[in-house]
Amino acid sequence: MGVTMKTTLVSTPLAQIETELLAVFATDTAPAADTANGPQTSPQVQLLTRDAALAAAAKTILASGDFKAEANETLLVHAPQGMAARRLLLVGAGKQARLTVHALRKAAGSAVRAARAKGIREVTLALPEDLDALATARAMGHGAAVADFDPDFYRSDRKDKSLQSLTLALPKGSDEKAVEAGLHEGIALGESQNLTRTLVNEPGNRLTPTLLGEQAKKMCAEQGLRCQVYSSEKLHELKMGSFWSVTQGSDEPPALIVMEYTPEGAAEGPVLGLVGKGITFDSGGLSLKPADSMEKMKYDMAGAAAMIGAMRAIALLKPRVKVISVICSAENMPSGKAQKPGDVQISMTGKSIEVLNTDAEGRLVLADGLAYAKQLGATHLIDAATLTGAVMVALGGVNAGAFSNDENAWLHFETALGQSGEKFWRLPLDEEYREMLRSPIADIKNVGGRYGGASTAAMFLKEFVGDTPWVHLDIAGTAWIDDAKPWMSSGPSGIAMPSIVEWVRSFAR
Ligand code: BES
Ligand code: ZN
Ligand code: ZN
Repeated sequence: MGVTMKTTLVSTPLAQIETELLAVFATDTAPAADTANGPQTSPQVQLLTRDAALAAAAKTILASGDFKAEANETLLVHAPQGMAARRLLLVGAGKQARLTVHALRKAAGSAVRAARAKGIREVTLALPEDLDALATARAMGHGAAVADFDPDFYRSDRKDKSLQSLTLALPKGSDEKAVEAGLHEGIALGESQNLTRTLVNEPGNRLTPTLLGEQAKKMCAEQGLRCQVYSSEKLHELKMGSFWSVTQGSDEPPALIVMEYTPEGAAEGPVLGLVGKGITFDSGGLSLKPADSMEKMKYDMAGAAAMIGAMRAIALLKPRVKVISVICSAENMPSGKAQKPGDVQISMTGKSIEVLNTDAEGRLVLADGLAYAKQLGATHLIDAATLTGAVMVALGGVNAGAFSNDENAWLHFETALGQSGEKFWRLPLDEEYREMLRSPIADIKNVGGRYGGASTAAMFLKEFVGDTPWVHLDIAGTAWIDDAKPWMSSGPSGIAMPSIVEWVRSFAR
């Protein structure tokens, strides 16, 4: 199964395109004001598609000043004069001087969401001129696909608002092959990100570790990837005492999921290990969380879902590099069998852990997951986890946290961010944080104290990674968004999945 959204490219003059909605993008070319209080220049709107018929149809509106081309601003015009389209949607992409494909990714998403809100399911996007065709088509396809998602799965009056077809209108002289390749890539990314979001959206009763394993199996069968799903027995066999300690209190069995992508003709070269935290519900265990917003802890498997989405995209985009993904999935529950604060666990690596807080469980499952990925041959590691409340305190919902023990692996991640446009902020991993994890009874304790919680959590993981180049992504503050954005619904964001795919691609030969 490849991409599912129906897409078309057209090169006919804009005026002749028959469509329910033609979205055209625009920027503001007025120079930015120097200071907040300085003279405000009035916006000068410039359409990113040069076309005489379009210019004539948009003239009155643009002259009115009602549309300022602010980022993700939209304005809908019915029956635009001289054009075959039934509606014309002007979409802002912000300041021209700051225009990037990332702004266009969001603008394309905003166009699709504006259409869906009106029940319009057939949309044409005018591909802006003068930009790299492949990168632009890719970003816009990605943005359009991500916009084509709503979290209201369980509403009985849910309406299917998904796009039936997406058309890109090409400017004269476009490189059609490049646009087609870019669009295909973008939609593959966006649809895979929506798989991530669909999984994150599922409540704990409908997505247990076992069911997450089944979802991974299903995706892998569809995309031709190898997949193994293990449970309790394998955890014991591998001596994953740390992972086991989290799952032991739950009536639901754990799932240890291993997905593998081997490109054709793969020989020497790096093996990338993608490790995900898959806590399908985090009650905190005996260190029980307060009832207030405990329900949100159904998204504590967003790291795992990012890896399942990433593996899907990797299967579709076929980079020439081997990838193994390890997902540690469990429920964190209190019970008579649950681990107790103060318990000492022996991890797969043999290191002993004093568990002072059973709510710091993500690092416990990942300790064994990272070690196992190494045992399976990973030469470079990346993990994603909704790991700490502390990263939300530090960075809010704007940036996700990132950490690395290796400058080269980090450089690859920065390159990836340049492609994905996602916002991650690197946080420190100084040795001093290790001191905060010193245990009087074991090799390490699982909490570091009141301050610096994102870094002490990362430092805990580092202990199990050793010298292997590694990037750790803490997505606790960004995997769930409370308020919808013009380009994305509220709920699961699918954060990290695109950057992980780009990180993988940056290693491909
Ligand atoms: N799953 C949580 C982290 C989290 C918090 C994710 C809020 C999303 C939103 C994690 O397992 C946890 O409970 N961490 C504790 C660690 C603490 C006990 C050291 C935390 O951050 O409070
Ligand atoms: Zn927890
Ligand atoms: Zn958790």
